[in-house]
Amino acid sequence: MSTTVSMIRPGNTPRNPATNPDITPELRDSVARKAATAVSLLQRLVAELGGSGELTFANSFGAEDMVLTDLILDRKLPIEIFSLDTGRLPAETYTLMGEVEQRYDTRIKVYFPDATAVEQYVRTEGINAFYDSVDLRKACCQIRKVEPLRRALAGKKAWITGLRAAQSTTRTGLPVREFDAGNGLEKINPLSDWTEAEVWAYLRLHGVPYNALHDQFYPSIGCAPCTRGIALGEDVRAGRWWWEDPESKECGLHVKKS
Ligand code: ADX
Ligand code: SF4
Repeated sequence: MSTTVSMIRPGNTPRNPATNPDITPELRDSVARKAATAVSLLQRLVAELGGSGELTFANSFGAEDMVLTDLILDRKLPIEIFSLDTGRLPAETYTLMGEVEQRYDTRIKVYFPDATAVEQYVRTEGINAFYDSVDLRKACCQIRKVEPLRRALAGKKAWITGLRAAQSTTRTGLPVREFDAGNGLEKINPLSDWTEAEVWAYLRLHGVPYNALHDQFYPSIGCAPCTRGIALGEDVRAGRWWWEDPESKECGLHVKKS
């Protein structure tokens, strides 16, 4: 029988193999190599494009983003870090955000959705209308994520994300560096070729804090009502908008415009 989060009670959470990979010498080497490559890419970008005013990192505080957070803040690279607070994030994400601010002695630049737009949506459609149709779900993501992202990226030359090619069918072939035509600036995906095991090996080897939900079988974490734990062996994004088809499972932050 597969394990699902609904079967897990405090005190008997099984050890999650995804967040505790066996760190072999080969894995340790590949993580060190890829981390060095990511750091030199970030350093080159700073030299080429400028620092915080030009370059910003979109941080959701998921496992991949914690790798990038550590790479940037541990080396004090002059790269701005922002996060989109949709107002519906899990409590665990806010806890981690606070831990990051303390550990690295920094402040995260948080963007909130437009209050009037949220009020209007909720009054018209209902507090949890995103379950009712893909259109209503996308409208909620538009208000709570996409519009604030537009403000966060205004005036920047490039944004950095924690996307990995292996995360989903919609991300296959993801380049490290691309032009994001939808948002009109460069998009940098330094962890594009990282595996999930490499992400977790990095976090374990460097003692980096992470979202407590990951140990409870949440490989991918977004808003609380639209994220759930997965069964062992399921696709890493199976717990995001689980009631929708895999093809529609993007919130609009990473849509390609040709
Ligand atoms: S999503 O499009 O499905 O929500 P996902 O959770 O996989 O995206 O995250 C992919 C990348 O998008 C993250 O590594 C991060 O760079 C960016 N991102 C996602 N959610 C946020 C957020 N709330 N704030 C800032 N960046 C985010
Ligand atoms: Fe709204 Fe869910 Fe999208 Fe969050 S993930 S913005 S709650 S539809």
